Amino acid sequence: MNARRKVIIDCDPGIDDTLALMLALKSPELEVVGITVVCGNVPVELGVQNVFRVLERYGRMDIPVYAGARAPWKRDYVSAQDTHGMDGLGEAGIPAAKQGECREGAAGFLVEALKREEKLSIIALGPLTNVADALKLEAAAFEKLDEFVCMGGSYKSHGNCSPVAEYNFWCDPDAADYAFAHLPVKIHMVGLDVTRKIVLSPNILEYMCQIAPGEGDFIRKITRFYFDFHWKQEKVIGCVINDPLAVAYFVNPMLAEGFESYTRVATEGIALGQSVVDAMNFCGESANSYILTDVDAEEFMRIFLKRIVNAQEPELSDTLKQIFVQE
Ligand code: BDR
Ligand code: CA
Repeated sequence: MNARRKVIIDCDPGIDDTLALMLALKSPELEVVGITVVCGNVPVELGVQNVFRVLERYGRMDIPVYAGARAPWKRDYVSAQDTHGMDGLGEAGIPAAKQGECREGAAGFLVEALKREEKLSIIALGPLTNVADALKLEAAAFEKLDEFVCMGGSYKSHGNCSPVAEYNFWCDPDAADYAFAHLPVKIHMVGLDVTRKIVLSPNILEYMCQIAPGEGDFIRKITRFYFDFHWKQEKVIGCVINDPLAVAYFVNPMLAEGFESYTRVATEGIALGQSVVDAMNFCGESANSYILTDVDAEEFMRIFLKRIVNAQEPELSDTLKQIFVQE
């Protein structure tokens, strides 16, 4: 049997981060050695509380949690509480975790963990401030980094914060650009081109509630706000769950396809936060990223439903057939 792959999840929960954490904790291929929290969807203190809500729910309070950057490198901090609710969990009244001791120093933890562990990967689900802080602190530690998968950016799809910028890169474009410029491994960019295809629809939610009422009800509660936001903002029925795709792709890279490219992030002007993907190699630089362009959305849902609500075959395939034909 293959050893479980060690990962640190850097996140800003956030409704879809919460679903991503749940997926990671339910993935036997992963050993989550730590969770670091960055300001993004919500301020760090709220993000930390949401991490503990998930860890307590899954009986995983053994995983260390570290608080990180309270503000982006240069820009004023703009949260996404309009999207995720003031509490970051859809204002659903999910009770706070009873315990949970958060430590300070996400960047230091990332560096120390990279030095300590033989093979460690990072899955980044929020703005890249903690990662860039860690890189600045001790770039050499990253030489041992195994893989870096990041939800952020967009290649051809339009932005969600501006015509061209995706939230995680737009929130801290300087940190994002620093990461693209300095990480010694290629960034697997799980951007809006692929995450927009991952929609938690009312039908999928209903299926979850039917087969696992407890988990289904929790997800129904935390996504209600997100459903409303998507309808108002993009006329999408359901909600786009960006972050779980980064976890699922890390577990099974066959889920998606893309291409290697040199990529940087615009740090000023009208294109602020845009991921500038040099697909035609105008810059003549070697590739520092792998840009996802296509995803098997049905296969993602199969993985997600199997793990989160223990969906079983052949019913799962029959149901997915119904759902994906209708949608
Ligand atoms: C990203 O921004 C956040 O709102 C989500 O959690 C996701 O990480 C999508 O643009
Ligand atoms: Ca996120």
